[in-house]
Amino acid sequence: MHNRRDFLRNSILAAGALGLRSEALIVPPLPAQDMDEEKYWKLIREQFPLSHQRIFLNNGTIGPSPYPVVSSVYKDMMEVDTEARYAGMEDEARQALAGFLGTDKSEIALTRNCTEGINICCWGLPLREGDEVILSRHEHVGNAGPWLNRAKLTGIKIKAIPFGQTAEQTLDIVKKTVTGKTKVIALPQIPCTIGQILPTREICAFAKEHGIFSFVDGAHPPGMLETDLHQLGCDMYSGCCHKWMLGPKGTGFLYVAKDFRDTVQAFYGGGGVDTGWDLLSDPPLLKGYVDDGHRYYYGTQNASLFQGIVKAVEFHEAIGKGKIEKRVRKLAAYLQENLLKIIPGIEMLTPVEAISRGAQIGFRIKGKEMADLQTHVRKRGIIVRYVPENNINCLRVSTHIYNSFKEIDTFLQATEEFAKGGA
Ligand SMILES: Cc1ncc(COP(=O)(O)O)c(C=O)c1O
Repeated sequence: MHNRRDFLRNSILAAGALGLRSEALIVPPLPAQDMDEEKYWKLIREQFPLSHQRIFLNNGTIGPSPYPVVSSVYKDMMEVDTEARYAGMEDEARQALAGFLGTDKSEIALTRNCTEGINICCWGLPLREGDEVILSRHEHVGNAGPWLNRAKLTGIKIKAIPFGQTAEQTLDIVKKTVTGKTKVIALPQIPCTIGQILPTREICAFAKEHGIFSFVDGAHPPGMLETDLHQLGCDMYSGCCHKWMLGPKGTGFLYVAKDFRDTVQAFYGGGGVDTGWDLLSDPPLLKGYVDDGHRYYYGTQNASLFQGIVKAVEFHEAIGKGKIEKRVRKLAAYLQENLLKIIPGIEMLTPVEAISRGAQIGFRIKGKEMADLQTHVRKRGIIVRYVPENNINCLRVSTHIYNSFKEIDTFLQATEEFAKGGA
């Protein structure tokens, strides 16, 4: 693993090779502990090509990559097409993700996005008509769609729960929803609507005690929260690298715990999945599946994107995962506290309880349409996400390390203007 100095030097070299603006890569000259905090994060901001013409507070939809990621993908694509190289970087990407997520490499499958991993689990699980699956009323289509589709096609039953205002209340709701027919709890660790952190470890432990499969939609947490999937204790976890991980777009991973591998069937066949096949035998046969996460993905992949995943992990580790989590949560807490203080008619949807609050704040304003607030702030160059899902009428604001307190202040000012009826 590169140390911070190597990482920054390599950023410059990579950008230089690409002809990227070198002044955009100002190296923090001192170890972080010797620097003023805001100055440090300002220098980190310079590691991103992200336009200064806008204030981007929508990492919950897509995470803009820093130069080392963008340039490594570009460089690798050039090499692939210059040398007509086939494949590569797959082992490195799986190893990097395993280290980042606290798993074994064999438990990681590479996917194109979070939804793909969810579909693999949803269709790979041994479920029968009438079996119950617990979801929430806050699902993204990526977690709602696969389970609803399986319900439509095979007759499983979906139960959609609300969340409590505290982790304890939410855990209680989950427990009360379970029946003798519950086969899967398939909740997000952080829902896309209001960014509330669910008590996932406790939910998974409860599921295990009751012989229920635990699937976690992890689109948001990796790169935001320090994530250790063995500690979390889930059976399956699907995530993407293109949100808080700041990796290449169209990359994701699926974790299936080693001792759960034979429970989730390999629904798709293809190159990399099996231990042998024969079309000349009578009857033609598929011998079996590899004893590895590779049984869940197949075929030709984009090696350059895998290279970008490795760089994204290195970028996070060079700064420090704990330090990133602290920063993004601090920005969100500042936003929430000030919204509550200055916005008339505010209805805070994200819990104020610190353990339930991550790097996303969802709120609405009494009597106002939040789509209008999205339009209002956009005219000022601020990008956020209006959340219409399940009629929640919420505005979601996401924070990451390229954001500053000054940007949050600009958003607060624009929101105050809107709440008070200004144009
Ligand atoms: C909670 C949640 N789950 C799943 C998804 C789907 O992710 P992907 O686009 O990587 O499939 C998203 C995307 O925003 C999400 O927010």
